[in-house]
Order: sequence, then structure tokens, then C-alpha cells
Amino acid sequence: MNEIDWSNLSFGYIKTDFNVRCHYKDGAWGDLEVTDSESINLHMAATCLHYGQEVFEGLKAFRGKDGKIRIFRLEENAKRMQSSCDGILMAKLPVEKFSEACIKAVKMNERFIPPYESGSSLYIRPLLIGTSAQVGVSPAKEYTFLVFVTPVGPYFKGGFQTSPVAILRQYDRAAPLGTGIYKVGGNYAASLVAGDKAHSLGYAAVLYLDAREKKYIDECGPANFFAIKNNCYITPKSSSILPSITNNSLMKLAEDMGMKVERRQVAEEELATFEEAGQCGTAAVISPISKVDDLDENKSYLIAKDGKPGPVCTKLYNKLRGIQYGDEPDTYGWVTVVD
Ligand code: PLP
Ligand code: COI
Repeated sequence: MNEIDWSNLSFGYIKTDFNVRCHYKDGAWGDLEVTDSESINLHMAATCLHYGQEVFEGLKAFRGKDGKIRIFRLEENAKRMQSSCDGILMAKLPVEKFSEACIKAVKMNERFIPPYESGSSLYIRPLLIGTSAQVGVSPAKEYTFLVFVTPVGPYFKGGFQTSPVAILRQYDRAAPLGTGIYKVGGNYAASLVAGDKAHSLGYAAVLYLDAREKKYIDECGPANFFAIKNNCYITPKSSSILPSITNNSLMKLAEDMGMKVERRQVAEEELATFEEAGQCGTAAVISPISKVDDLDENKSYLIAKDGKPGPVCTKLYNKLRGIQYGDEPDTYGWVTVVD
């Protein structure tokens, strides 16, 4: 392979050696298969193409100072994919099979795991699609699961530094009783126009408000939202946001750091009172927010007064990264060490 500049990777696709696949037919999942092909041979009437029967996951493997490879919260991602499958009537992959496939994909592409010093990681992308032909709107009878991996750097330019986000009231990403709680491709398609608009105006992401009232904060493009106030970690409770595994981890860390944790509706006006705020997710890790501009209402909320990540975001970021890279003990049982 061409030399990879591990320390300067962006969040993009780099071809690796192998991906792992598994097919569902006649009511059962087959054995795991390994291939070096980047393509899928698909029926033109496959339900994933027409009716969006597609779910995916995103998790990461890290190379530690000790040389060991650690996958962060493998089982939680497996369970969330099952929940997404239930959400759009797809065949569910057993947790053990999901885990086995991810571990295999990581091991077989070990040479693509960035070195510890680079601060980069190996992104793991499991994907499940409906493959059998269907013209009427109904679920497929056959499915393909696959896992590919690719080395990545930070999702937002510059890594751990503050960036601005925008509220764009003309767009919704997900409906209150829709599919926002599942990791399905359709949610991301629904976010593309708003995301593109925000990026072209110089914002890192869209901060979505709840679709019903446009009053409460939902989440940020590809990440959950959290804020810090009076030693309290505050994050929105909503029926239209993805249950972020990073956010779930940060809530536990915050609690164990002696903070109060509140998961509740967060009104937009409260932005004016926050000491710190951030986006969190597998790709985003923690991306502190500098300011929130409500472009339709002509309001601006300056959060990072000095433009720098705040002390609580920094502490949470260091703790999370410490556990992921193995610099801190895995007291929560979040890490799978790959032998
Ligand atoms: N919200 C959305 C819409 C996402 O795509 C992601 C990314 O996975 C997240 C939140 C963060 O979730 P997690 O921390 O599990 O990666
Ligand atoms: C992730 O954080 O893993 C995501 O899936 C976000 C985005 C790249 C879709």
C-alpha cells in the first residue's frame, strides 16, 4: 500500500484488505465469509435500493501504547443494530455473530490500525441490507450483512477544538414518532440538504430542534448534543434522536466525576445559560461547540467565550480517549481486547 500518513488522516474511506460478510436466506444466517472485493452484486429490485431497508453501525478499534487492539463497546453497537432492524422490519443478526464479524474484520486488516502515537483509529462500519426483490412495499426475505474497516482521523477539521453549529428551522431530520432513534440510511439522506447548507455557511453541523414544536434541542447532524452547567451534564431526551453510545458513556463518566446528570427536554433558550456544550459520537468523539446561531430567528448563543474547549469537555474527552486507547483501566467493561 502507499504510505499512510497516520497522523493526518481525515474521516474518509481508504481501501483495506478484506471485508467480512454474512447472508440471510430461508430464515437463517449463514457462515461468515471473507472477501477482498469492495463490490456487492445486488438485484435491481432489492428492498435496500427502493424502500430503504438499510441499517448500519459505526464503532472504532484503537491501538494502545501497549500494542494491544481495543474495540470500544462492541456489544452495545450489536444491540443497537438489532434495535434498528426491529425498527424497519429487517432480519436481526445475533450479537455474537456481529461481534465475531467485527473482530475478524479488524484482525484481518491489522496493518491498517493506526499507531497509538497518531491519535487516529480504525473505523468499523457494519452494514445490513435487504437484498431480495420486492416491488410492493414489504420487507425483504433475504439480507446481507457486511463489515468493512477503514483508518480514520477526526470527523471535524482540527480534531479537539471548538466549532460553530447552526439551527435551520426549515429542515427536520426525523419525525417525533419516526425513525430518528434507529441508525437507518434514510435519516442521513434526510439530513443532507440541511447539512450542506450549514457547511456552506461555515458551520460544522446542524443543531436540529424537535420537529413538533421547534422548541427543544434534538441532536447535532451525526452526533448527540450535551451541555455543562453548574456541575451538571445535561443532554436532550427525545423520541427522535439516536441513542448515542458515546453519550451513554459520557453520562457514566460525568456521574463518576461527581457531576449530576440530567437527561431531559432542553429548550433552545437554555443555550444562553450553558458554560460548555458539545457534540458527541463515535466519529465526533467530543467536539466542543463554540456558538449556536439560530439563523431564522437571528439569534446567536456564544458558548465558548474564549473560543477554546472548556475544562469539563476536556476532562471528559481525555477520560474517554484514555479508556479507548487503554491508557486508563477499563473499569466499566467497555473494551474488547482483540488477541
Ligand atoms: N446521532 C447520530 C445521528 C449519529 O449518526 C451518531 C453516530 O453514530 C450519533 C448520534 C452518535 O452515536 P454513537 O455515539 O453511538 O456513535
Ligand atoms: C458515527 O459516529 O459512527 C457515525 O456513524 C456518524 C456518521 C459518520 C454517520
